[in-house]
This record gives sequence, C-alpha cells and structure tokens, in this order.
Amino acid sequence: MHVVKTLSEIRELRRQLNSSVGLVPTMGYLHEGHLALVRQARAETSTVIVSIYVNPTQFSPSEDFKVYPRDLSRDLELLEGEKTDIVFVPPDEEMYPTGFSSWVDVEKVTEWLEGASRPGHFRGVATVCAKLFNIVQPARAYFGQKDAQQVIVMKRMVADLNMNLEIVVVPTVRESDGLAVSSRNIYLEAEGRQAATVLFTALSLAKQLWQDGEKDADKIRQQMIWHIQKEALAQIDYVSIADSSTLEELKHIDSPAVASLAVRIGKARLIDNIALG
Ligand code: PAJ
Repeated sequence: MHVVKTLSEIRELRRQLNSSVGLVPTMGYLHEGHLALVRQARAETSTVIVSIYVNPTQFSPSEDFKVYPRDLSRDLELLEGEKTDIVFVPPDEEMYPTGFSSWVDVEKVTEWLEGASRPGHFRGVATVCAKLFNIVQPARAYFGQKDAQQVIVMKRMVADLNMNLEIVVVPTVRESDGLAVSSRNIYLEAEGRQAATVLFTALSLAKQLWQDGEKDADKIRQQMIWHIQKEALAQIDYVSIADSSTLEELKHIDSPAVASLAVRIGKARLIDNIALG
C-alpha cells in the first residue's frame, strides 16, 4: 500500500496505471461505513485509492473542524486490511496553496436541508471533490447513502461539468440498534448514545406509515416530530419528506421519496435518511 502526500507523487503513480481506478474520498477516522465503500471499490475496480483529508473549506467557523477526530495510523492499518492500493493524505498546502481562489458552486439542490443549516458546506465539498477527481481521475467514486444530499450534489456536479466518472452509492451501514455509523458518534456520551436511536426509530416510523398507505407528507413529518420530541435530549434541526432525486419537499408522496432528518444530541449533530419507495 502506497501512502502519498503530494500531488506530484499521486500523479506519478496514477500515470503508471491504465487499469480502472476507484476513488473513496473520506475525512478519515475510518469506521465500518467507510470500509463498506472501500470494499465495494475493491470488488469493482482494479486499483483502489482512498483519500483522507479533513477539508477545512466545508466547515463553517462555528463547526467542529479543529476537534474533528483524527487517527491516521489506525486508518492506515484498517486500509491495509482492505487491500487498498494507494492512500492519498494531502496536507493543506497541497490542496489550498496560497492564492487559491476557484470554487465549485452547485446551485438549487444545495439551498435546502444540509445546505440551509450549513451555509457554504456544499461549496467546500464540491470544490474538494472536484479537485480530487481531477487529481486521481477515477472511473468510479464511491459515496455513502448516509449523506443523501452530498450524493445528489456529486451527481449534479459530475453531470453539469461533464466529469468523466461514475458516482457509485453505497447503502448506509448501521449499528445493531439502527444508529447510522458516523465519525461524529464519538461526541455522544452514554446517555446521548441511547437517545441517538431516535433518529432511526423516527425514520422507521415514517417508512411504516408510508407502507401502511399514508401518502400525505405533512402527516408523516408531524408523526416523526412528535416521536422525536418524546426524547428529551434530542433537538430537531429538520425533518424532511422529499423527492429522492432533488430533495425538494413533497406535499403528497406519489414518486420515490426519502425521509431525512438532522437532530442535535448534546454536542453531536447527527443526520440520517431512509428511502420511501
Ligand atoms: P466522511 O464523513 O469521512 O465520509 C466519507 C464517505 O463515507 C461519505 O461518502 C459518507 O457518505 C460515507 N459514510 C459515512 N458514514 C457512512 C455509513 N454509516 N454508511 C455508509 N457510508 C457512510 O463525507 C465526507 O467525509 C466528506 O464530505 C468528503 C466527501 C470526503 C469531502 O470532504
């Protein structure tokens, strides 16, 4: 496994490959969710490149960039175990050298949900991913369904800017009680960890209501809100029933939809989603 830090090193390695390359972009502190992406890339492409970079431009000043968990030596051990070929770990100077001033702004789909709660977030994500795609030139890039809006932003950017790669979406990996695995789960203390199951139970309730024939999105949203409000430690950021291809809020569910939510539990802001159809 090659561990490389500079653009010149990764470009040189890339030049030597004419096989299909799978890229898994991450911010490290790897868990089973990330590893599911790496495994799928391993199964589908001949060279697997994982990037580990806590991208400063996707965090707003009030967010957790400084304290975001990092453990590179453990990450490298896990990636070695998955037979990763190349790990790209660029320092900030490589990604954002002095004078950096070009940004990728994906409009519309970034205006609501995570985009509304975290202004500038998707500009940072789109910019760093566009850079990674240009650097690595993968045939496929792997993203988790856990971050549903990020997937839609990536697909929009790749289509709009004619980038020559496929975005592959991998199902959300969950703990045994349904909580989506996330690097930010470490911010949960014991009581909060228990309370955090409310995200998945609210999503499961939405799915059950929908399966039982409820098609009025407001009614499902309201049931989810009441369910979450029963958990004293949970503070709702948003609860959404939206079109699965645009994430625009729906009144009536008559096409494939997704229920999604963002909930604060203590210091942790957690997001999750489930498909309705
Ligand atoms: P990060 O939060 O490290 O996530 C990296 C990838 O792992 C994302 O595609 C995310 O959706 C996926 N992932 C996280 N938890 C998952 C789970 N429980 N099941 C399945 N997949 C999961 O997302 C980012 O980093 C950054 O925004 C990035 C794309 C790397 C750009 O900086």
